[in-house]
Amino acid sequence: MGSKTDVNEFSVSIFFKVSKAAILAGETFRFWILDFGFWIFEFVLSKFFSDLNLRENESFIDVCAAPGSKTTFINSKRHTGNTKLFVAGDFYEHRIRSLRENCIRLDAQNIEFVRYDAEKSMPFADASFDVILLDAPCSGTGTIRHNPEIRYFLKPSDFIELSEKQLNILKNASKLLVKGGRLIYSTCSLEREENESVVENFLRGATNFRKVLPNVSERFLTAENFARTFPGRDSTDGFFIAVFEKV
Ligand SMILES: C[S@@+](CC[C@H](N)C(=O)[O-])C[C@H]1O[C@@H](n2cnc3c(N)ncnc32)[C@H](O)[C@@H]1O
Repeated sequence: MGSKTDVNEFSVSIFFKVSKAAILAGETFRFWILDFGFWIFEFVLSKFFSDLNLRENESFIDVCAAPGSKTTFINSKRHTGNTKLFVAGDFYEHRIRSLRENCIRLDAQNIEFVRYDAEKSMPFADASFDVILLDAPCSGTGTIRHNPEIRYFLKPSDFIELSEKQLNILKNASKLLVKGGRLIYSTCSLEREENESVVENFLRGATNFRKVLPNVSERFLTAENFARTFPGRDSTDGFFIAVFEKV
């Protein structure tokens, strides 16, 4: 009887030890995969977001920052200690939690995390930032090769709603830029409605902004002086980037 109990206790303890080891291995693997994903993304970003390399004593806001791949990349490129203010904001509390966790995991430092609805207003005075990134919420059609479900959920009306949202956020974000500052608008959408149309619409009402040629290799520049990648042509996700200066 006694030995039966011992065997059961032994099996249970082995079971828990193996489970714990499996969970720890799983966690390590998950973080390894996450880090690898961020590393690949960082490589792509370094080719595309050099306009966001912060100079000494500049202030910066990543308007739609979660889950933080661009925040962490830009933070890693800044002169340590020499950024005036580094803000990363988003609308959703749970996404800000992931943003914060990713920043801790990747040792991104001196970041102020802020929650707001950028379509309505952001809690900063006009002309508060030297550099602004608006990586806008979008349809994600540039990522369909690894998010194939997107095509089943998108409706034609989504593009109209998204472009209105993108324009509203862009208009609000532009107020926060100092004269001479740079504003980068980007999406991972392939659609003109969410890209060229939004920024041309914005420029029509914002005469104190001018387009700047994105600092990317020539093959990515478009006839309208924006930058784009195409999954079929470039074997990457589809990105769109527009750069503006406030004059
Ligand atoms: C394309 S994702 C940003 C990806 C992020 N820049 C990165 O590289 O990891 C767009 C983000 O916009 C946020 N968002 C959507 N509507 C918003 C709003 N009204 N105000 C602020 N953020 C918003 C979403 O929660 C989402 O995290």
